[in-house]
Amino acid sequence: MAVRSEKIWVDGEMVNWDDAKVHVMSHALHYGTAYFEGIRCYALDEERSAVFRLAEHLRRFRDSGHILGTPLPYGIDEMTEAVLDVIRINQLKECYIRPLAFVGDGEMGLYALNNPVRVIVAAWAWGAYLGDEGLKRGIRAKVSSYTRHHVNVMMTNSKVSGNYVNSVLAKHEVKLAGYDEAIMLDPEGCVSEASGENLFIVKDGQLRTAPVTSILPGINRASVIELARAKGYQVNEERFARDALYIADEAFLTGTAAEVTPIREVDDRTIGEGRPGPVTLDLQQAFFDVIRGRSEGHRDWLTLV
Ligand SMILES: Cc1ncc(COP(=O)(O)O)c(C=O)c1O
Repeated sequence: MAVRSEKIWVDGEMVNWDDAKVHVMSHALHYGTAYFEGIRCYALDEERSAVFRLAEHLRRFRDSGHILGTPLPYGIDEMTEAVLDVIRINQLKECYIRPLAFVGDGEMGLYALNNPVRVIVAAWAWGAYLGDEGLKRGIRAKVSSYTRHHVNVMMTNSKVSGNYVNSVLAKHEVKLAGYDEAIMLDPEGCVSEASGENLFIVKDGQLRTAPVTSILPGINRASVIELARAKGYQVNEERFARDALYIADEAFLTGTAAEVTPIREVDDRTIGEGRPGPVTLDLQQAFFDVIRGRSEGHRDWLTLV
């Protein structure tokens, strides 16, 4: 279903959804020179809403611009206000928020550092990315035939739009084959992440996830690691191969869109019991308690709207 709300913040102004247009000669449209964030705002039990880890998302937004070499033309404080204003003006209690910075029109060709960097913030109501059933019962994943970027091919720590063609190819491939999500292997064949999520496996009560060297350093990944360690689980940030994933007791994905989604099957092999395992459920619950403001700890992860 097409996403929509009333207003979008465009270069400092609130613009009607239908009027937020760009020129067809925008550099980013031709060469992928844009960067973005994905952020969620949740309704709390106490009738307020809060944005989850806004400061961390905006820092990564700024870092993506720094990595691409097209710096964000607004400060973190201005972006914070823009995000909160967009949620308020659209009267959204729960939403997904999409800040995007892109190189606009002017020069053509690859070297166009004088073109303006334009910034928008949109927000809309968006449910579970991999479906409510997926969140509850787990999803079916497939390892994609497309390799995740080599670290000197794309800057994998950044959310640069051009990077995402790799994810789109993988997602199309596995969806058309009847699976829910694509798992990507790095150029050496180790498990890196999914098309738009980080990946964890659980074996004998311990968690493993790829180190951030060659993946997007997910904010939900970091949050789940912190929650898991606080609960006494050992979490190892180390590379592992595809067979370790096949024989894991449990596996799950983390991401802003997918939240904490269990994986019940990979490449037609059942993971563990074929349903969300106890560690996954424990961490999923802890995560949902924090984002709903039900947990005593980590109130500093929530920015009230
Ligand atoms: C490639 C990729 N990996 C991981 C993630 C998860 O990151 P986060 O938890 O910050 O949403 C995302 C989503 O932003 C992503 O696009």
